[in-house]
Amino acid sequence: MATETLKKMTGDEMIALTKQHTLFEWSAQSKVDPIPVARAKGIYFWTPEGKRFIDFNSQLMCVNIGHGDERVIHAIQEQAAVLAYANPFMATEPRARLGAKLARIAPGDIDVFFFTNGGAEANENAIKLARLYTGRHKILARYRSYHGATAGSMMLTGDPRRWASEPGMPGVVHVLDPYHGIERGWDSAEESLAMLEEIIELEGPKTIAAFVLESVTGTNGVLIPPDGYMQGVRALCTKHGILMICDEVMAGFGRTGEWFAIDHWKVVPDLLCMAKGLTSAYVPLGAVGMRRAIADHFKDKVFYGGLTYNSHPLGCAAALATLQVYEDDKLIENARKMGTVMKGLMADLAKRHPSVGAARSIGLFGLIELVRDRAKKTPLAPFNGTSDEMAALAKFFRQEGLYTFVRWHTFFTNPPLCVTEAELREAFAIIDRGLEITDRAVK
Ligand SMILES: Cc1ncc(COP(=O)(O)O)c(C=O)c1O
Repeated sequence: MATETLKKMTGDEMIALTKQHTLFEWSAQSKVDPIPVARAKGIYFWTPEGKRFIDFNSQLMCVNIGHGDERVIHAIQEQAAVLAYANPFMATEPRARLGAKLARIAPGDIDVFFFTNGGAEANENAIKLARLYTGRHKILARYRSYHGATAGSMMLTGDPRRWASEPGMPGVVHVLDPYHGIERGWDSAEESLAMLEEIIELEGPKTIAAFVLESVTGTNGVLIPPDGYMQGVRALCTKHGILMICDEVMAGFGRTGEWFAIDHWKVVPDLLCMAKGLTSAYVPLGAVGMRRAIADHFKDKVFYGGLTYNSHPLGCAAALATLQVYEDDKLIENARKMGTVMKGLMADLAKRHPSVGAARSIGLFGLIELVRDRAKKTPLAPFNGTSDEMAALAKFFRQEGLYTFVRWHTFFTNPPLCVTEAELREAFAIIDRGLEITDRAVK
């Protein structure tokens, strides 16, 4: 059979054919305006025509080690050559090694893992584990959160992406966060914990299986909890026999300058959900980690959960190589060090640009909230909406070759953890110029 060499597509061809035959997520299809991507290396990616972008969002806050790392690529290639797939009832070497490795880096006695295809499925299985273990039904979750788009995880999700899927899985009760938006600001840890305990009492503690929360909230605002909040949540959960589920799909694997964000507060959750940075998205893989007591419960009781691609050898091999890169290149230390540089750059923007209403970060996990009135802190776009100014800022970033998420009145600063100080400064110089656009909207 003759083999045909396919001509490489242009960016426009890629876009046209992609739009014709594939569906883009979270979008009305006529509104999507994708960037065609041909290749990527380190903190950069390129279009087929050679336009370079700084990846200041690590794609979807997931390519933590940076693009094109040969060590991970080789590990995937080697695993594919030896054993691309084995079903989940088999034992394989990458699965065995990855479970043991994660047990060493996860907090406390979290040392058993169930592997999934991604973050939403990690949360789905965490709910199953919590319900089976406690024999209780309800799940508490927070409004300012995203937990994934599968049926159950969508109902855990607090942000407006949930609305279109309602009514869904019953039994989820949403609670308020310590943060109430830029105009109202933060509750103290004590105030927020008092509200939480009141809801637990009103719902009936013995009906609640788990409280699921992002250790540092991601897309809903890089919300870093006040000191004492996580310890207080842990204490309340323990007091009432409720499992604490930390969703670290976005915040895990060095993003905040620790292996896991919860490590900042020295708290051990009962279940820990992860994905994204686990393989730095080189191939899909998620996991839910559980404390020993929960794992032991399933020695004699059936765990009713399964996936064809559970513990996929390619995913496990990619994760092992990725974890080695974090260690060999000291990327978590770098996130801490570059995080300090980034904090300084963000504070400098806040000082000089009247449209910057808030700038916060932890490690290399950062976000800026823009306002049109600095005294009243009126956001530059409404809740769940956009504005001409935010659209103009997004357009400017794209023209200038800076890729990041622009959402409502906010934008993110989440580079890969291998970023250098010079690269950070290069990106912030573009942001600095972009903010001249939004400054013009300030009264
Ligand atoms: C905190 C959090 N949880 C869960 C998910 C869902 O992960 P996935 O898209 O891999 O299903 C995400 C995705 O962005 C996330 O940020």
